[in-house]
Amino acid sequence: MLFRLGLIGYPIAHSLSPWIHERFMETTGMDGSYRIYEMNPERSFDTIMEQLQSLELHGFNVTVPYKEKIIPYLDEVDAGAAKIGAVNTVVNKNNKWIGYNTDGIGYVRALQSKFPALFHEAGCSALILGAGGAARGIFTALEEAGFKRIDLANRTKEHAMAICQHREHDSQVLSFATAENCLGDYDIVIQTTSVGMKPNVNRSIFTKADFSPIPIYSDIIYQPIKTKFLQLAEQSGAQVHYGHTMLLYQAQYAFEIWTGHKPDIGQMVEELEQMLK
Ligand code: ATR
Repeated sequence: MLFRLGLIGYPIAHSLSPWIHERFMETTGMDGSYRIYEMNPERSFDTIMEQLQSLELHGFNVTVPYKEKIIPYLDEVDAGAAKIGAVNTVVNKNNKWIGYNTDGIGYVRALQSKFPALFHEAGCSALILGAGGAARGIFTALEEAGFKRIDLANRTKEHAMAICQHREHDSQVLSFATAENCLGDYDIVIQTTSVGMKPNVNRSIFTKADFSPIPIYSDIIYQPIKTKFLQLAEQSGAQVHYGHTMLLYQAQYAFEIWTGHKPDIGQMVEELEQMLK
């Protein structure tokens, strides 16, 4: 079978997803293609969806600005994606479009592969910085993976409250100023805001250099691969986790949904790191 896969979004010309999925096809021995379909949001979304239908893809990824907009056009939405309120992966099953969100699970898989000790039975604690779509997915996946305490810090308190209300755990919502003084209370601190992303590489949510060395610091930004936030964390002697690993593992989970095959990530973490340097 020839798998026709792709990505919709805007702007996506420089996406790394074709490289990742073509490698997955090589390693699993599957036949197919993964193409970029850049859809300018100046056109109506109905027109964009008509074009997408006519492509007859077996599956596709969805990125900004369409992750929420696509939901009403799907035949089914997986429970995890519905909880997050955003879809980044669609599979065409018997002419029905089914939506998933692989970000949170991809993040957890990436973390598990590097820091398996964080997933012990007693449950670890995490502080998530930011309260956008990515934070929501990561919160849900960490909760499902057994984390016992997950707090949030965000510029807009209401956005963070919306993520943790009605959840099983009691979560605290902090300001960045408060969070900065209690980083050592957590096993891991996860940076999900856009602060520090190219071209604003000299910015960081926290600016003081004396990060507590106790938690692992993780940033989901992968351009640059070593954000200012992670540089400051490293200077404190802490362990760090780079964002490109999440990109690989969320793609792995999407590929699995489309083809039923779980590709080996193998050397791709190091290869992607070299490409991004
Ligand atoms: P994504 O879907 O990738 O997570 P998003 O939904 O746009 O992206 O979320 C962006 C996050 O970065 C939000 O938490 C946002 O804070 P607000 O909830 O207050 O908007 C955060 N963010 C973006 N720019 C920021 C800045 N300059 N300072 C602090 N937080 C910022």
